[in-house]
Amino acid sequence: MLPPEVAHNLSIWALKSNLIPAQRIYKHQKLEQKLFGLSFDNPVGLAAGFDKNAECIENLVEQNFGFLEFGTVTPVPQAGNDKPRIFRLKEYDAVINRMGFPNKGLELFSQKLRQWKYTGINSRKTIIGANIGKNKLTADISSDYISCMEKIYGLCDYITVNISSPNTPGLRELQKKDNLKQLLSDIKSKKKEISTKYKGNLPVLLKISPDESEESLADIADIVVKKKIDGVIISNTTINPELMNDVSSAGAVYTGGLSGRPVFGLSTEIIRKFYQMTEGKVPIIGVGGVFSAEDAYVKIKAGASLVQLYTGLVYKGFGLVNEINEGLVKLLVKDGFSNISEAVGRDVR
Ligand SMILES: Cc1cc2nc3c(=O)[nH]c(=O)nc-3n(C[C@H](O)[C@H](O)[C@H](O)COP(=O)(O)O)c2cc1C
Repeated sequence: MLPPEVAHNLSIWALKSNLIPAQRIYKHQKLEQKLFGLSFDNPVGLAAGFDKNAECIENLVEQNFGFLEFGTVTPVPQAGNDKPRIFRLKEYDAVINRMGFPNKGLELFSQKLRQWKYTGINSRKTIIGANIGKNKLTADISSDYISCMEKIYGLCDYITVNISSPNTPGLRELQKKDNLKQLLSDIKSKKKEISTKYKGNLPVLLKISPDESEESLADIADIVVKKKIDGVIISNTTINPELMNDVSSAGAVYTGGLSGRPVFGLSTEIIRKFYQMTEGKVPIIGVGGVFSAEDAYVKIKAGASLVQLYTGLVYKGFGLVNEINEGLVKLLVKDGFSNISEAVGRDVR
């Protein structure tokens, strides 16, 4: 009933204030996987953008996700676009947002990660990812991503290089061949430099848009394989004109990125293509319109090893996490799989 951003801020506040009850622990051996050197208890993660400032790590850990992704964080704090900038499209189970990376900046973000790492009292252990981006006014391709890496190295389990938000002008240009090559080369050399210094490995994932042409997707796949990127998150929100048009028929036309049920088919199709192009060698995290165990299973069979949720949580709440995990176990049993990894890419192979 509340305006979307008010509701969002209220839920962040409620989490921070311990007003949201913990979910019961649900574990099953069929759901456990090891990917990019990390052991996942279950395949259901929180997508980036929900907790942009990593303010509620402790409370989100209690919601029983297999992994949590915080951010997008940018080096310098920024206000984002003017409000209103989030719109609910209830009849479509969808959201349109044009937030533009509002966040409190890298300093505070890294403090929160450090606090959790060294003083977190929650006994549940969850994989923590940091989604990094660039400030609106930064022209340089790599510098903001490199600053973020330097600051949060050692404080999280993986980083996601976000080059696919439609709400930061020019960001999606980084998905183009030459830009992407340069960005990923810079990131890889930084990673090498820091990992020698700290003797650790930090998996690097890339988050892409669902609006890439076949040719552009093939370029991305090729570069990801050549640069040995650990995994790919597919996908961010869409600005696909047909899908935008479909949901606009209800009335207002909003600019921004569309998420939720309408993006399910498109993002799943990109997962399928990417899995084929990389012959299943690059782990994929599937995001976009997951509202049930069946939805998650479709993404997994199309090639995703893990899934993430955002809009599904808006409409169904945190109970969705256990609902999906329990449902997945039933689906795996029905199909005779002893572990979820056997189902990955089954519809494509
Ligand atoms: C309000 C809102 C804010 C978002 N902010 C971010 C963000 O900061 N970084 C990012 O990588 N994705 C962001 N996303 C995209 C989601 O992480 C996800 O990729 C997308 O919404 C598709 O999944 P869904 O259909 O489950 O929501 C945002 C999505 C929404 C709805």
